[in-house]
Formats: sequence, structure tokens, C-alpha cells
Amino acid sequence: MKRPYIICHMVTSLDGKVIGDYLKVERAAYFTDIYEKIHPRYESKAWMCGRVTMEEHFTLGHKLDLIHEDTPPISRTDYVANKNATSYAIAVDPSGRLGWTESSIESWNEHRTDGHIVEVLTEQVSDAYLSHLKKIGVSYIFGGKEQLNFTVVVEKLKNLFSIDKIMLEGGGFLNGSFLNEGLIDELSLILVPIADGASNSVTLFETSPFLNKTKPVNFFLKEVKKLDDSGLWLKYVTK
Ligand SMILES: NC(=O)c1ccc[n+]([C@@H]2O[C@H](COP(=O)([O-])OP(=O)(O)OC[C@H]3O[C@@H](n4cnc5c(N)ncnc54)[C@H](OP(=O)(O)O)[C@@H]3O)[C@@H](O)[C@H]2O)c1
Repeated sequence: MKRPYIICHMVTSLDGKVIGDYLKVERAAYFTDIYEKIHPRYESKAWMCGRVTMEEHFTLGHKLDLIHEDTPPISRTDYVANKNATSYAIAVDPSGRLGWTESSIESWNEHRTDGHIVEVLTEQVSDAYLSHLKKIGVSYIFGGKEQLNFTVVVEKLKNLFSIDKIMLEGGGFLNGSFLNEGLIDELSLILVPIADGASNSVTLFETSPFLNKTKPVNFFLKEVKKLDDSGLWLKYVTK
């Protein structure tokens, strides 16, 4: 395959929500823990999240104070700071908004290793942001001039970093982008036996102004495992 094998690994409520009050219910913690435990079973050296998820969990809304005036123009070519990392944390951040201060995300539980950060950008990003990423040793790749083409992105990840498998780990807008481009090979879904009930929270696959709704995509059951406390781990493939 020209591109990596892509597994979308997620937790949802019975009504398909990836966020919401159901995650604050006490019994939900068991399922988010199982989600983390399952992650290494796929033996993938790369995981990917959208800008919103990265901001919420890792940069915690930190804003960079960049000096724009004095930055010389930087060519829009991919930058590989580390091609031998044991793990890669790939951040989809089209306009360069994430306030990274280090080149890797530290392991936050025994199931995750430190991940070298790779930013996925469009060419609209500022020179000052590129200069900052280079300074702190974050890798970056371009996925398009104004809009991202994820087929190009994943092929670059394979060619530049030898990534053969990616765990696509949300949120719903990023998952929806991959669904749109027919890039999901497998779905690993931890189904939490709680109905959230909200009508306005993010679901497993979303659309947006920058994303047309895709045609319905068929999934085929590969395996189903009963979890404790009425949960399920569902594995589906698309081919
Ligand atoms: N239940 C789970 O398993 C799970 C897993 C992961 C995350 N989450 C939750 O999901 C929530 C966030 O989900 P989300 O769907 O709102 O956000 P997201 O997918 O994390 O990030 C969306 C952002 O990524 C960029 N992006 C994604 N697709 C793009 C495309 N095709 N073209 C250009 N840019 C694109 C855009 O950034 P810009 O806005 O900068 O343009 C977009 O706003 C968080 O609360 C997180 O905790 C849940």
C-alpha cells in the first residue's frame, strides 16, 4: 500500500457521541481506561488527532507569543526533525494554532510512550510559526495550499517517517475528513452503555463547511468483544 493502514480508535456513547456528559458518569472511567489499554495492542507507532483535541488535552490552550515582523520567509517544504522516533503524535492544525513548547508529548500513562510531534499544516501558516516549530524541533508537513488533502498527508507520513499504521483518534471532524476521503480501513469502537441524549455534541463522524457529506460508507464486522459492565469493543473493517 502506498499509504499507512488506518484504524479509527474511539470511545462513544450508545448515541454515537464522542464528547458529552456521559463521560462524567462514574462508570465511564472504566471504558476510557480500556480505550487506553487497547491502544498499544495495535502496535502502531503513530497516532493522530485534530487541533481541537490536541488543544484540549495537550497544549491546554497555550498561545504562543510569536514575533512576526522579523521572520524571514520560509519555503513551504516539509521539515523532518526526527525520522527515527519510536512514536509519533500527529497534530492536524491547518493554520498553525497549537502552542507547542516542546518537540514531543510525554507519555501520560503506562500504555503510551513519548510521541515526537508532527504538525500537519496548510501553506497559509505564518513564517513565524514555522520558525518556532523548527526552533523547538517539531516536524511539520504540508497537506495543501489552503485545504488539506489527507491522501497526500498519509502518503507523506509513510514516505518521510516510515509510518505503516496510524491510529486515528478523533475528534469527530478529523474522523469525518478521513471518512470523506475513503481513508479508514478499520474502526475500533469502545461502546459505552450510556445514552448521552444531547443533540448538539460531536459524533463519531462529522461534516462541516470545509467538509462535504460523504456517501454512506459500509463497514463489516471483524470481531465483537463483550466488556465488563455492559460495554462492547466492536471491530469493523471497510474492505
Ligand atoms: N471519545 C473519543 O474517543 C475521543 C477521541 C478524541 C477526541 N475526543 C474529543 O473530541 C472533541 C474534539 O472533537 P472535534 O471533532 O471538535 O475536533 P478535532 O477533530 O479534534 O479538531 C477539529 C479541527 O481540526 C482541524 N481539521 C480537522 N479536519 C480538517 C480538514 N478536513 N481540513 C482542515 N482542518 C481540519 C480544524 O482545525 P482549525 O479549527 O484550527 O482549522 C478543525 O477545527 C474533544 O472534546 C475531544 O476530547 C474524543
